Amino acid sequence: MEARALIERKRDGGRIAPAEWRQLMQQYAAGAVPDYQMAALAMAIFFVGLDREELGALTDAMLQSGATLDLDHLRGGRVDKHSTGGVGDKVSLVLAPLVAACGVNVPMMSGRGLGHTGGTLDKLESIPGFRTDLSLAAATRQLETLGCALIGQTREIAPADRKLYALRDATSTVESIPLIAASIMSKKLAEGLTGLVLDVKHGSGAFLPELDRGLELAQTMVSLGADHGCPVVALLTAMDRPLGRACGNALEVEESIMALRGEGPPDLMAVTYALGAEMLLLGGAASDRDEARRRMEVAISSGKAAQRFQQIIEAQGGNPAVVDDPSILPQAAEVELFVATRAGVVAQVEPRAVGRGITALGGGRTRVEDEVNPSVGFVITARPGDVVRAGEPLATIFAADSAGVQRGREALAAAIRVADDADPPLPLISHRVTEAGVQLWDAD
Ligand code: URA
Repeated sequence: MEARALIERKRDGGRIAPAEWRQLMQQYAAGAVPDYQMAALAMAIFFVGLDREELGALTDAMLQSGATLDLDHLRGGRVDKHSTGGVGDKVSLVLAPLVAACGVNVPMMSGRGLGHTGGTLDKLESIPGFRTDLSLAAATRQLETLGCALIGQTREIAPADRKLYALRDATSTVESIPLIAASIMSKKLAEGLTGLVLDVKHGSGAFLPELDRGLELAQTMVSLGADHGCPVVALLTAMDRPLGRACGNALEVEESIMALRGEGPPDLMAVTYALGAEMLLLGGAASDRDEARRRMEVAISSGKAAQRFQQIIEAQGGNPAVVDDPSILPQAAEVELFVATRAGVVAQVEPRAVGRGITALGGGRTRVEDEVNPSVGFVITARPGDVVRAGEPLATIFAADSAGVQRGREALAAAIRVADDADPPLPLISHRVTEAGVQLWDAD
């Protein structure tokens, strides 16, 4: 196989056969195909695209470049959830223990924050002692006892994707629907799932802001899952404002704990219950959405969901007392209110500006190797559509020092717009995508 010939063929609109994808990705993972050739191929894919068979073959090739979890011996379904990323999106932290407490196994593999979006691994690691670098063997043992493990992409899983993703990041080839779909699905299929639920964000703070691109990504991943025997359901959800109130690693863990104790903000709970119901249905733990919802509400009100989170934290080396006493989490040195400078209606809480603000406070990354300060961020109580008075608090800034408070103020001044009137925000959940097609979301 000559990489150059494949690049030329793809560049000119041709197809690459399954055996060629397999050999190419094996050689790339082994270092026998150089990054510059793979970068050229990624750019050709970016412009030309892949058909359904090629996309399946590339996904298989990346999946087979590494190890897979064998979880067939577990009782019950094995369902994960993946979000395309946003600001304040702490749904995974609530959902994983909640769904596990309802009897579905959740082998959850998450990522780190990069750019304006946060990452579940960084949030979890703000819990003192919490380890996300479990081996696949340790994750399997934990799934056998607790029905849930919260891990990062290990070196063993899809190494070809790991290399290619870093290369795409450096060559402006991330925003390609087939490359995103193959990248996400190769890792998810390696978890040995019986079902997958996707939270595809759209709106100004999303990776792909336009609704039609979000729908196309959702349909692509649903088809890819179907071709691999893994049913996938996707919900399209709003990221034109942060989800919940807390934005920042430890602050989001605290809000997640409150959610598991029955005191979560309504938008966070609505998205969590909607995704959770799909997970319970795919995992065979409920026969319809109403039953799924009831089971989750009981898991929260009985304390079972919070207790499961405590057990997971303890099993992964963290301090389980954090569930009863979130003040154990890292605390910011400086805490200050941010108030409205005029009366009016909150017209916008722009998530990209909020996410960039967290990075300016030291709580996010601009490069993969950056360290994050877990204690900093914002709690934003103002919601689009709220009527506010001049001087009324809109948010609280959590910073490491007074210079950080100032950067936080500047970020919130750019993010929160108070005006005479406001357009309605995007519907929180707008579409449901399955193999059967795209449906408008029915809030009931
Ligand atoms: N997340 C991934 O894992 N891969 C992508 O390509 C984009 C987001």
